[in-house]
Parts: sequence; C-alpha cells; structure tokens
Amino acid sequence: MGRYTVVITGASGSAYGLRLVEQLLVGGHDVTLTMTEAGREVAGYELGFDLPAEEPARAVTRFLELTQEVKLRYACCADLFDPIASGSHPVDATIVCPASMGFCASVANGLASNLPERAADVMLKERKPLVMVPRETPLSLVHLRNLTALAESGAIIVPAMPAFYQRPETLDDAVNFVVGKILDVLSIDHELFERWGS
Ligand SMILES: Cc1cc2nc3c(=O)[nH]c(=O)nc-3n(C[C@H](O)[C@H](O)[C@H](O)COP(=O)(O)O)c2cc1C
Repeated sequence: MGRYTVVITGASGSAYGLRLVEQLLVGGHDVTLTMTEAGREVAGYELGFDLPAEEPARAVTRFLELTQEVKLRYACCADLFDPIASGSHPVDATIVCPASMGFCASVANGLASNLPERAADVMLKERKPLVMVPRETPLSLVHLRNLTALAESGAIIVPAMPAFYQRPETLDDAVNFVVGKILDVLSIDHELFERWGS
C-alpha cells in the first residue's frame, strides 16, 4: 500500500480533493491531508464541510461517511515541522487537488511559505511524483507560464477537466472522471469510470 499526501487549496472543486482522499483511503492507502486556509474556506462554502480544529481527520472520515478503519492524518497548514515538510519523510506521491493559480505560482517559484507549498516543493526537489490538478478558466499567460514551469520541473499536470464521452449523468460522474484520471497517472487501481473500449 502507498503513502500519499493530498493538498486541497482554495480553487473551486474541493469535491475532487475529498473524493480523491476517499478513494485512497478505501484502497487501503496511507493518506496525509493538508488544506490551505483558502482551501478550508472554499470547502466550507462549496460543500458545507467546515474543518474543526479538534480531531480534523475524524471530521473528514465522518464527512466521507467512511465506517471502516482508515489511515488518515491531517496536517495543519501552518505546521512547518510536520513530517511532510521534509524530503527524508517517505511519500510515494503528492497530489494538489484542486490547485489554485496562486498555489501553482508559489510552487513554480519555489516559495514554500506554508506546509502545503513546502510539501509540493519537496516532491520537486526529491524528483518524486507531484500531481497538480489546476482549476481556473480562462487561463492567463501568467497561469500558463507557471503551469509550464511546473511541468518542466517534473510535475504532472492533470487539469480538472471532466470529459463527456463517458456520458456523465450526475456531477458525481464528472468528479469521478477527474479523480480516476489522477489515479491513472499514479497507476493506482480504481473503478471510478468505465474505460473506453471495455
Ligand atoms: C468560492 C471561490 C472559488 C474560487 N475558485 C478559484 C479557482 O477555481 N481557481 C483559482 O485559481 N482560484 C480560485 N479562487 C481564489 C483562491 O481561493 C485564492 O486565490 C486564494 O488566495 C488561493 O489560496 P491558496 O492557493 O493558498 O489556497 C476561488 C475563491 C473562492 C472564494
């Protein structure tokens, strides 16, 4: 089983990030979740999910309605002493989902000014998988340049772009498609969508 870090930032689409956490946990993986301040606010606004200061990991599993034993740890955005701030900590991949343009800019420029940014920065310096799931439209030249810099530094860019050839019937189907594509680039098994030609 793998060890993954999931970062939820303040871009629209925290539903993608939480579905990803759910899938990794249900698959038996070890997950560290961290959210930026804006990520917490947007999740509260979009999903009605308000992360409490006390026992945040338990609140996440309750929100995801997971009843089985899972391996979830929550890391506070301000805690630069957390293990995921260090390249010596074993992590198979870090996924920033959704990734705001501000977050992409920070990582593309190596700012590492809080734990989520540092966790992403560590993956680039250690040459380990960093999956960025940007969500913005339209994209400015600044956004495109930052995404290009990230790709040039080794990040895998998986835009939050649901497809329609799967004939989605619900928003859940669209969310599952994007999360399935993230799991695909990490070679993690899932049954979130039917594969073309199957
Ligand atoms: C409801 C809401 C939706 C937002 N959606 C996006 C978005 O899709 N993409 C984006 O780049 N920023 C979006 N923003 C703006 C970011 O939250 C803002 O730039 C924030 O500073 C990002 O901080 P972070 O990168 O530390 O999470 C949104 C803000 C709000 C309040």
